[in-house]
Amino acid sequence: MDAVGREHTSVAGLGWGDEGKGKIVDLLCPDFDVVIRYNGGANAGHTVCVADEKFAVHLVPSGVLHSGVTGVIGPGVVVDPIGLVSEIDGLEARGVRVRDNLKISDRAHAVMPYHKIEDALSEQAAAAEKIGTTARGIGPCYADKMRRGGAIRIVDLLNPRKLRSMLEANVRFKRTVLNALYGSDGGLTFEQAWDDVAGAAERLAGYVVDTTTYLNDRLQAGAKLLFEGANGTLLDVDHGTYPYVTSSSTSPAGIAAGAGIPPNVVTQFMGVTKAYATRVGAGPFPTELNDETGERIRVAGHEYGTTTGRPRRCGWFDAVAARYSVTLGGTTEVALMHLDTLSGFKQVGICTAYRHADRLMYTLPADAEVLGKAEPVIELLPGWDGNLRGAKSFDELPDAAQAYIARIEALVGVNVGIVSVGPERTQTLFRTHPAKGGRRAPAEALRSSAHAPPRAVRSREARSPSDHTPPWQAGF
Ligand code: GDP
Ligand code: IMO
Ligand code: MG
Repeated sequence: MDAVGREHTSVAGLGWGDEGKGKIVDLLCPDFDVVIRYNGGANAGHTVCVADEKFAVHLVPSGVLHSGVTGVIGPGVVVDPIGLVSEIDGLEARGVRVRDNLKISDRAHAVMPYHKIEDALSEQAAAAEKIGTTARGIGPCYADKMRRGGAIRIVDLLNPRKLRSMLEANVRFKRTVLNALYGSDGGLTFEQAWDDVAGAAERLAGYVVDTTTYLNDRLQAGAKLLFEGANGTLLDVDHGTYPYVTSSSTSPAGIAAGAGIPPNVVTQFMGVTKAYATRVGAGPFPTELNDETGERIRVAGHEYGTTTGRPRRCGWFDAVAARYSVTLGGTTEVALMHLDTLSGFKQVGICTAYRHADRLMYTLPADAEVLGKAEPVIELLPGWDGNLRGAKSFDELPDAAQAYIARIEALVGVNVGIVSVGPERTQTLFRTHPAKGGRRAPAEALRSSAHAPPRAVRSREARSPSDHTPPWQAGF
């Protein structure tokens, strides 16, 4: 926590989403002036607990719950105008003043009603290959953005004449495509779409600005920026468990493009992960526990989706995947969430490698099928008892819990600077490390890791043409 608050910082998930980013952003907010969403859309569901109240935000940056903080929705976000209006109304009805604290990029793309229909119909038709999307229209909207022809951006919402003609043409085109592909247009009509979109556009007009100029001006004036990642690194469209991913750049690598700031602005990278792993939707999940232990974690951690209410799949902490995300995102400090949820287990597991076709892998393979078949190599550590939620400092944690954290730090190669022991703001332990600088060199972590791949394994892998771990990655 040494540098956070003095430097521009990012908060991003190291897993498949729902790591607790909302709680961490909320906690860090008092030290920042602007909180910026740079990727994803209303597929995100970030929970913030303030006293007895629980807020779940989807498009609005978590920072708007703090009156002195401006929330920015950057150009890399896909914005559902109808959903955003109802989210703003919901927050305002609960006393959160969003009106003066939110800015939406004129360059962001707009999720249209047909995107949500397309998302749902394509998932229905996909049968076995379902991604298990949130049905918020994310994939179809990003696809149209990349395809370019006729995609509607927030700036277009400000021009009713242009918006109407774009929407008319798009609805005609989408109905043809949807009918041809799925035998249904999902009830899409221009009249309904126009009513809904035009109404929302009018409501949002006052929030729309050139956020790129705004943010860079604020930077010049010395404001401190906090970037709120949505989804999680393992859902990144380029680096995640493709095709079981979302459609945006979820890791800090997406910040510059998605927010509209120079790439060298952010220097502190907070990586958020649970003390175990979860995933919603389809896709490989090597440490998944399809048994009583998994169910116990689900119940203890209330692991049900914030956006869709779906039960989350639960499993042991995956150090291979976490290390991959940390490497990719340049994580300088880890926030370890839900330590309280693991209380009461006799033993707790950490995945230190994957085994596939009699070989060990120490990084994420590109092929989701390979990852799906990989067996986790689990190291079991002693568990601990007791309710951790009352702990006031790291030293108050049971020895076994401290040892578990130390093992994660060694395997992942980065210090754990925040330990979360409950959903509330107060249920958070901030650590200061004697050695400043947060991130440890991976080589140092490897040396201290009893589970570094033995030399023999590495050289055998390096020689094998069929191996999925290239030699230069074999040691993580
Ligand atoms: P996000 O999408 O990364 O912001 O995470 P979500 O809000 O979707 O899911 C995290 C859930 O865990 C929320 O319900 C939080 O209130 C809750 N939570 C966060 N930290 C902790 C913690 O340390 N312990 C427990 N038990 N719950 C937590
Ligand atoms: P936050 O920000 C958890 C998952 C979906 C699905 C896949 C693709 O709350 O951590 P999409 O609707 O994006 O096309 O779905 O990605 N997914 C998330 N899972 N938390 C999220 O966001 C997610 N955003 C997308 O479940 O598997
Ligand atoms: Mg979430």
